[in-house]
Amino acid sequence: MCSSAQPSILAGYVVFFLLFWGTRSLVGAYTRTCPAPCACFGDLVDCSRLKKGQIPKSLPEWTVQLKLSHNELNSVPDLGQYASNITTLVLANNRLSKIAMEQLGPFLALETLDLSNNHIAEIKAGSFPALPLKNLFLNNNRIASLEPGCFTNLSSSLQVLRLNRNRLSSIPAKIFQLPNLQHLELSRNRVRRVEGLTFHGLQALRSLKMQRNGLSRLMDGAFWGLSNMEVLQLDHNNLTEVSKGWLYGLLTLQQLHLGHNAISRIRPDAWEFCQKLSELNLSSNHLSRLEESSFIGLSLLDELRIGNNRVSFIADGAFRGLSSLQTLDLQNNEISWTIEDMNGPFSALDKLKKIFLQGNRIRSVTKKSFSGLDALQNLDLSNNAIMSIQANAFSQMKNLQELRLNTSSLLCDCQLKWLPVWVAEQTFLPCVNASCAHPQMLKGRSVFAVGPEEFVCDDFPKPQITIQPETRSALKGANVTFVCSAASSSDSPMTFAWKKDNEVLNDAEIHNQAHLRVQGGSGGETEVTEYTTTLQLSDVQFSSEGKYQCVISNHFGSSYSTKARLTVNSKLRTSARPKTTACSESKTCQSKARQES
Ligand SMILES: *[C@@H]1O[C@H](CO)[C@@H](O)[C@H](O)[C@H]1NC(C)=O
Ligand SMILES: *[C@@H]1O[C@H](CO)[C@@H](O)[C@H](O)[C@H]1NC(C)=O
Ligand SMILES: *[C@@H]1O[C@H](CO)[C@@H](O)[C@H](O)[C@H]1NC(C)=O
Ligand SMILES: *[C@@H]1O[C@H](CO)[C@@H](O)[C@H](O)[C@H]1NC(C)=O
Ligand SMILES: *[C@@H]1O[C@H](CO)[C@@H](O)[C@H](O)[C@H]1NC(C)=O
Ligand SMILES: *[C@@H]1O[C@H](CO)[C@@H](O)[C@H](O)[C@H]1NC(C)=O
Ligand SMILES: *[C@@H]1O[C@H](CO)[C@@H](O)[C@H](O)[C@H]1NC(C)=O
Repeated sequence: MCSSAQPSILAGYVVFFLLFWGTRSLVGAYTRTCPAPCACFGDLVDCSRLKKGQIPKSLPEWTVQLKLSHNELNSVPDLGQYASNITTLVLANNRLSKIAMEQLGPFLALETLDLSNNHIAEIKAGSFPALPLKNLFLNNNRIASLEPGCFTNLSSSLQVLRLNRNRLSSIPAKIFQLPNLQHLELSRNRVRRVEGLTFHGLQALRSLKMQRNGLSRLMDGAFWGLSNMEVLQLDHNNLTEVSKGWLYGLLTLQQLHLGHNAISRIRPDAWEFCQKLSELNLSSNHLSRLEESSFIGLSLLDELRIGNNRVSFIADGAFRGLSSLQTLDLQNNEISWTIEDMNGPFSALDKLKKIFLQGNRIRSVTKKSFSGLDALQNLDLSNNAIMSIQANAFSQMKNLQELRLNTSSLLCDCQLKWLPVWVAEQTFLPCVNASCAHPQMLKGRSVFAVGPEEFVCDDFPKPQITIQPETRSALKGANVTFVCSAASSSDSPMTFAWKKDNEVLNDAEIHNQAHLRVQGGSGGETEVTEYTTTLQLSDVQFSSEGKYQCVISNHFGSSYSTKARLTVNSKLRTSARPKTTACSESKTCQSKARQES
């Protein structure tokens, strides 16, 4: 890649590790005798992977941590008097099918119990004696039910509870009355729906993991009561929207992970309760629109990830409130139009340091594209077949440290002459892979191998707007047309689109025409194709008001017309004056209508 590797740091780790390891084993060897065939490290006695009969009958009295993994055990072994000093008991990968109070009773000092990878099918009330247990690991069992009261005896001590990879399909409301619990893990279960108040009783909880459950409904108040929670991980589920209903009460949330869901909608006011949020990950969802309201209230947000969605529309001001944002990931969306045309879509993000825009089919970068990003350090535009970059498009980014670009589609004409010079001056060279596609003579050459005198403008393959649509007003019910023309020296096929308020009009009535024009220039005659597109609006209503714009594209890029505003006037107002009742779309009528409004 374009940053250089640092082998010296790696070597440092190796040395440190060897020193550390050496000291530990020396202490063990001189002070204690380890029971065969177990292995000992400090106060840990590891009797894992033994046949049942080989587990030593008596343990050294100094045993504090005991590991009995992979031993085919069906029950917690009876360790006699030594049980009472053990603080950590690892029974992972055995065959326990239940948790029995009488077997755990002797472990009076037990703080950590690992029962992962066993055959436990349910947790009944009365499973746990009163123990000072802080960490309980039950991952990868067959637990399908939690009986009310099952954790009662652990309520004053338990801090970490892991129940990943089990078979829970529902969680009874208020089942967790664990006021000291800080971390709860419920990933890879089968909980499809979380009811309100489910986690009531977990006021100290700081993180909750519920990935890969097939969750599709979070009811209002689902997380109510988690008033100290900082991290909520809900990746790889089937959630479809973000709303304040389910975020209700998450007043201290800092990280919200919602990657790999089916979210297509962020409701207005969604973040009303989550104003401390600093990291929001919405990668790999179905978002297609970022509205003006989508991120309102997130003034402390530091990192926003919306990569791998379908975003094609970003409202003016969608990022306006994000005054602390440092990282914005928009990779693999469809925001080419935003970058190519919108007026400074990121202009509110004056703290932004990193922006990821790879894979957005961006064809051209203009000076406006990144206006306002004065603090930017990393800009990734790779994996876009960029054809043109306006001179000094990046020049206001005084702190830019890394620019990633790989395109073999550049239109290497006089307008691009600045690029190789600037890139070399900035020492961005290692991350920029840019070669020409046009003109034919330079096709395939790296821009860095093209001499300054070779960047010439003797044609203009990218469409250039020659006639802009005009701002106008019309009477309600009238027919209105907007006209737009562009010319190009290339015969590559053109496509036409009209947008209203930045959104493509998919069902509009559009007529397109092409005509050849011969232009006389100093170097002789050249053939130019001129294209005209007409947008026909019939029976305009007040809802037709807005800003209309044409987009004319070919293989070499897109050109965007200026935005023409349509104002619609009511008939009623004009018909009050007898002389204007017959008013149609004539020039005089328009000016009258304007005077009246
Ligand atoms: C428990 O540990 C204490 C001191 O750490 C020791 O005096 C006592 O003998 C141990 N108990 C058992 C049953 O080994
Ligand atoms: C709590 O533990 C005590 C023994 O330590 C036991 O007698 C009691 O039944 C347990 N209570 C519950 C609700 O599990
Ligand atoms: C999500 O829902 C769809 C259809 O509703 C289903 O086919 C898919 O398996 C679900 N995904 C998960 C992870 O449950
Ligand atoms: C964001 O979420 C995606 C999908 O769950 C994950 O792959 C990615 O690592 C996350 N990124 C960060 C920075 O947490
Ligand atoms: C950019 O680089 C990536 C990976 O190196 C490659 O997969 C991709 O095709 C390149 N894109 C272009 C436009 O050259
Ligand atoms: C630059 O891109 C071209 C094609 O996109 C690829 O063949 C070449 O390996 C790339 N060079 C570097 C240094 O990444
Ligand atoms: C608008 O155009 C339609 C045909 O597209 C026509 O029937 C109608 O009379 C026109 N209306 C006005 C007010 O000109």
